[in-house]
Amino acid sequence: MKKSLKIALISIVSVLLIVIIAGVAAWLYLGAKFLNFEKNYTENQDLKEVTINGYKFLDRNGNGKLDIYEDDRKSIEERATDLLSQMTTEEKIHLLKGSGIASAMGNGDPKTSISGAVGLIVPTPRLGIPTLYLSDGPAGLRIEPKRKNETRTYYCTAFPIGTMLASTWNTDLVKEVGSAMGNEALEYGLDVILGPGANIHRNPLCGRNFEYYSEDPLLTGWIGAACVNGIQSNGVGTSVKHFALNNQETKRSRNDVRVSERALREVYLKGFEIIVKKSQPWTIMSSYNKLKGTYTSESKYLLTDILRDDWGFKGLVMSDWFGGQNAPAQIKAGNDLLEPGTKFQWDALKEAVKSGDLPMTSVDASVKRILKLILTSKKMQQSIIRNNPDLKAHAVTAQQSASEGIVLLKNENTLPLQNKKNVALFGVTSYDFIAGGTGSGDVNEAYTVSLEEGLKNKGIEINKVIQKSFEAHKLVNAKSFIKPEGMKAMFQPYNPPQWIPSSDEMAQSVSSADIGIVTIGRNSGEGADRKEKDDFLLTSMEQQLIEMTCKAFHAAGKKVVVVLNIGGVIETASWKNLPDAIVLAWQGGQEGGNAVAAILSGEINPSGKLPMTFPIHLNDHASSANFPLDSKPMGMFDMVGSTGTLPEKDQVRNYDYTNYEEGIYVGYRHFDKAKIEVSYPFGYGLSYTQFKYSDMAAAVLNDTLKVDLTISNTGNCKGKEVVQLYLSKPDSKIDQPVQELKAFTKTANLTPGEAVNLKFRIPLNELTYWNEKDSKWTLEVGQYIVKASSSSRDIRLSKEVIIE
Ligand code: BGC
Repeated sequence: MKKSLKIALISIVSVLLIVIIAGVAAWLYLGAKFLNFEKNYTENQDLKEVTINGYKFLDRNGNGKLDIYEDDRKSIEERATDLLSQMTTEEKIHLLKGSGIASAMGNGDPKTSISGAVGLIVPTPRLGIPTLYLSDGPAGLRIEPKRKNETRTYYCTAFPIGTMLASTWNTDLVKEVGSAMGNEALEYGLDVILGPGANIHRNPLCGRNFEYYSEDPLLTGWIGAACVNGIQSNGVGTSVKHFALNNQETKRSRNDVRVSERALREVYLKGFEIIVKKSQPWTIMSSYNKLKGTYTSESKYLLTDILRDDWGFKGLVMSDWFGGQNAPAQIKAGNDLLEPGTKFQWDALKEAVKSGDLPMTSVDASVKRILKLILTSKKMQQSIIRNNPDLKAHAVTAQQSASEGIVLLKNENTLPLQNKKNVALFGVTSYDFIAGGTGSGDVNEAYTVSLEEGLKNKGIEINKVIQKSFEAHKLVNAKSFIKPEGMKAMFQPYNPPQWIPSSDEMAQSVSSADIGIVTIGRNSGEGADRKEKDDFLLTSMEQQLIEMTCKAFHAAGKKVVVVLNIGGVIETASWKNLPDAIVLAWQGGQEGGNAVAAILSGEINPSGKLPMTFPIHLNDHASSANFPLDSKPMGMFDMVGSTGTLPEKDQVRNYDYTNYEEGIYVGYRHFDKAKIEVSYPFGYGLSYTQFKYSDMAAAVLNDTLKVDLTISNTGNCKGKEVVQLYLSKPDSKIDQPVQELKAFTKTANLTPGEAVNLKFRIPLNELTYWNEKDSKWTLEVGQYIVKASSSSRDIRLSKEVIIE
């Protein structure tokens, strides 16, 4: 063998060896710090039942006696106090952080973890305290549907995305959805659902807007509270997230939000405040970002002064996954639980307690909150994990909520389809409907009903010419149509390429179909914000598809409907005059296609309304002046945790910090104030029937604003109306929005001619503004105008009231 060849071979083998050794070392390091560092803390599952004085209980610490914490006749407070007093310092510190990320990666031991659960509250084996499991998220429970060596599956129901639930404006229905989600958690042995998301839609481009409800804090709060109450009615907890100001994905782990106190209180915290007061979530999740220089998970101001002292929050706060930088500072601030937990955090906490930097009073306060949650959980009541949720019943709830969240944006004598039998379906997502966004807000559902299937289920024929054209396109691009699975699916929005049928196919479809439907799809998720080009705006291909379909069908006297299968706001003003109808289908979960078909066929009358404004231009939003419009997806390290602070001079605007210069002028508050025309206003949505507003009365009595009015269905079919109450203070001495939503309700399904009397009772302290000068909520006295509206720009009746 030649010498040079020998040297080359030796070099290759050496490099390979180094790579293998480095790989093994890295894996062992990862294991020791992030995956398996819990060696001595496996759950004690061998607990004995003992009877003393006729009372049967689990002798959790095996001392043969009935301890207060073992006695479920005692209050949670007494039991937690007793349990805390029996714990060693090591056990307490151990409880403050999760056990690592193994089970989230599907790597956990099946006996001691649930595949796909993203975090744990660790067990205390000596005292017989069990492990609790946490998993996402806002559109349904996210666990792994398949487990090693098992043939059965563990699917969960994909419900409509958060934004779509808010579009229903139906708190009873959202409570039902929450109740179904909570039931799945209970059935599969999960103790806390990491949701709902209550961040505000500050800008249409935030990649996670689909998980959040609205640009308005009241709608966010009321819908969020309904969801929490539904989930928690099962004895399962929630984690309302991300507290607070996680309004962009770009550099979320280091972004410093610089916002006025008034905007903070009135816009960004208000939704959380309402949720806390109306539903006492078991937990709140702090966010990744900073507020005025301090990580929110390290902010005593947010987590203790506001959340607990001002609002009376009773539960625990957990960090977002790997969020924050300084574990002892987090505990001191009131961030009780660090998820998913690392060996570094455990060591840092032990060290800080030893040095006195972390006082035991802080440790005890946090541990006690965690213990209270554990004691309240079904796990402590030895609930049996049945692994058998009623997925069929939940699919019905998913479909109902999806159809109530669909918003009819335009309808020129086109819908319902009535006698139209053959429908030509254009746009890839007509056949490959998007159920929800990606990232932790995704759900591993068993199936997704496409629009094609939904229409077929209603007995409507799908035009063969266009369907075949799509199949051919799919065959040629087969690779792009493979849906990513598992961890990959979390971070890779599935966006198969669009297609345009040939002019020949278009002509054939026009002659054989009764109507054309073009579906426009969008998919986004955790880890990246959206962009204006090819996302907020239509792509040139989509533009062309809408134009040519409308031209061809209109030439033959036939109509075209555009269906928007999207998770966030897109531009509509430039093309909305082309089709005859536009249906905002959002991402309706696994039953999305059936829900749209029910609206198109007229089986269900649309009753959804917009939870945010559809602007004409992206830059019409005041927040667009300070938003990362050119954002790139995050790198792996940005994804998994907080990345510290750069020196001031290296900080980049909208990345390292974002100035919320628009203050309280978010969404309609801005568009109204600046008198900007919009494409579709906040609260907007059409129906197949009409509603009359009448007999409005408004008065202030004993600290309450009372408003009564009558709504009648004056059209020809059954329907529900969302009635919105806005309040204006025209002669205000302070800078105020033109109007603000103060209450809403959705009527029952009124039959033609039917009328209903509605009563609103609004406490006056809900009409206050944040007075920055005195740092308190203040009620301005004087004249107010109460408006009963069908949308923020469709005021039907108004009344003047005087508040003294
Ligand atoms: C997300 C949270 C989620 C957590 C666990 C984080 O990346 O921001 O919303 O609950 O992961 O999956």
